[in-house]
Amino acid sequence: RHKVLFDTDPGIDDAMALYLLHRHPAIELLGITTVHGNAYTEVTTRNALYLCDRFGIDVPVARGAAQPLVGKKDHVPAMVHGDDALGNIGPIATPRHPLDPRPAHRLIIDTVRQYPGEVTLVAVAPLTNLALALKEDPAIAGLVRQVVIMGGAFGVHGQIGNVSPVAEANIICDPYAADQVLTAPWPVVMVGLDVTHQVLMPRAMFERVRDEGGADGQFLWRISQQYLSFYARQERIDGCYVHDASAVAYVIDPSLFQLRSGPIRVVTDGIAVGQTIQNASGRQYRSPVWQEGPAQSVCTEVDADGLLKLMMATL
Ligand code: BDR
Ligand code: CA
Repeated sequence: RHKVLFDTDPGIDDAMALYLLHRHPAIELLGITTVHGNAYTEVTTRNALYLCDRFGIDVPVARGAAQPLVGKKDHVPAMVHGDDALGNIGPIATPRHPLDPRPAHRLIIDTVRQYPGEVTLVAVAPLTNLALALKEDPAIAGLVRQVVIMGGAFGVHGQIGNVSPVAEANIICDPYAADQVLTAPWPVVMVGLDVTHQVLMPRAMFERVRDEGGADGQFLWRISQQYLSFYARQERIDGCYVHDASAVAYVIDPSLFQLRSGPIRVVTDGIAVGQTIQNASGRQYRSPVWQEGPAQSVCTEVDADGLLKLMMATL
């Protein structure tokens, strides 16, 4: 089984990804770390604790960064995930699941060191916690099995960003952290918009989850209603793109994806802030920015039907 530490900003699709991690037999979930993103960290942490109660998940949950490495978080995408980041479902019970006393980056370090060479970090939110963990203990880069990130947009199919023409949300929320995480000497796989925009979960599938998935299925359907309305308005589609759960699917079955390899950098300011660029050409450029840095992987193609089947079998 894959030992996974989940870094997240729940978040509707984060909740679905968490459920998949919890229920899939190929995964052993070791812990959850929260961060700013779809809401402020206070809210994403409360949601993570609440989801643990709801789904019966019993692993440490640690609160992470409230701010990006540089600059200040001063707004949240309430039109996508709701003010509560759970689709505006109204008041929820106060979580009973305890909050781990450690900061998120410490839980990351401790978990990686507890199982050297075995832990997969699945990060589906701004990468601040991972950058802080690397800063405090750079040697963890050599101790993780892999880092699977939902984030980035590489323009593989022409479709590019979702926050700006070139930037994806998780990267633009902390571009400095993303650049550090992507240039660190650990093996990274990016599951970005190039592939997640190919995986459309139609509304009818949510209804099947509601009808056949018991109380958890009904809950996942309920939190998805505002998300579905957002996609109907914004993208004119009758369903949702599968972002965070696609990163989980990569861990479970990498054969669903095709990858390309090469160093990656992130634009940290200016009009292209948050853009992810990969040199997949193998060329040696004279520009100093591209003369070093480990080759990382970017997903370029996905078997969308296979991925949705995997999800539905578990949900
Ligand atoms: C990413 O941003 C968030 O809105 C989602 O949870 C996902 O992690 C998609 O760009
Ligand atoms: Ca997310």
